[in-house]
Amino acid sequence: MNWHIKAALQKILALSQIGDRLNHMPVLFNKKYHSNVYQYQTYECFRKFEGSKIQIDETSNALEIGTGYSVLSPVCLALLGFNKVVTVDISRDLTFSSFRKQIEFMQVSSLPRDFVSKSIYSEIVLKQKIENIKKVRSFDELFEYLNIVYLAPYKFEEIEKESLKFDYIVSQVVLEHMPPKQLELLFFYTKKWLSENGIAVHCINFIDHFANPGFFQDKSISEFNFLKYSDKYWDFWSGNSIAYTNRLSFPYYVQLAKKYNLNVKSFNGENYRKRVELDTELIHPDILRNYNGVVNKDEIMKYQRGTFVMS
Ligand SMILES: C[S@@+](CC[C@H](N)C(=O)[O-])C[C@H]1O[C@@H](n2cnc3c(N)ncnc32)[C@H](O)[C@@H]1O
Repeated sequence: MNWHIKAALQKILALSQIGDRLNHMPVLFNKKYHSNVYQYQTYECFRKFEGSKIQIDETSNALEIGTGYSVLSPVCLALLGFNKVVTVDISRDLTFSSFRKQIEFMQVSSLPRDFVSKSIYSEIVLKQKIENIKKVRSFDELFEYLNIVYLAPYKFEEIEKESLKFDYIVSQVVLEHMPPKQLELLFFYTKKWLSENGIAVHCINFIDHFANPGFFQDKSISEFNFLKYSDKYWDFWSGNSIAYTNRLSFPYYVQLAKKYNLNVKSFNGENYRKRVELDTELIHPDILRNYNGVVNKDEIMKYQRGTFVMS
């Protein structure tokens, strides 16, 4: 389906308060949705934690940027041993009914391999905690039990009321949805908040989301199709709260880290699906301007997604 159709629908939905929820509804019709969310969230949470090589103890705390529709990632961070987990989003999308369905899939044996050995808790304690989590009757109970704080919508200053230092700052496919000004704030505060041995880990998806699989996928376009357009054109079609993506690739985040004196310890770029490349000559000058002109065009399209580990 031509991507303009999905873009037009999202543009209309974004006018309504419940537009984002309606946009999210089709995925709920997939019978395996909650089981897939369980697998994805636990796997991705642990992959980043393990990849960051962070050492935690019973005083460590974590900040997740971009909670989304599932609270499983903060739950996993609490089970790994973080004493407090603050999770924030610009919209309040968690529902307890979804949580109840997703947590049913959690058992010590269904956690990612090595999860138990990396947690500060023993297997017996983890089992007990999972049993207790399954018994909670509300988010209030869950959040109190695991010391999770959910701020949505949030402001950076409000996060500081929860803690002035964080040992772990993490996000999963969120930064590509943040406008450059928000990214500047995030990197500024990351530098301010990271504790001495603190680590920030961000997994970012760099591709055109209209090429994502699903009913509305535009199979005719390159995964970097969006780089063809001017800022004005792109803003017209997807400059709304549902569809917004910043069209920035990994060299941008490297530059930003440098600007805020953050050390990029590692960057793991991946191509996780079949490549459908875009001719570099088609990249719009507006895109290149984001990099102060200092960027290799091939680099911008080198990876579909990547994970940064910073300190
Ligand atoms: C693709 S979802 C990912 C959600 C979740 N991390 C996951 O893996 O399922 C992107 C999320 O980023 C959130 N988001 C967008 N801009 C944000 C911002 N400036 N700060 C925090 N979250 C933001 C959106 O509301 C949305 O929940």
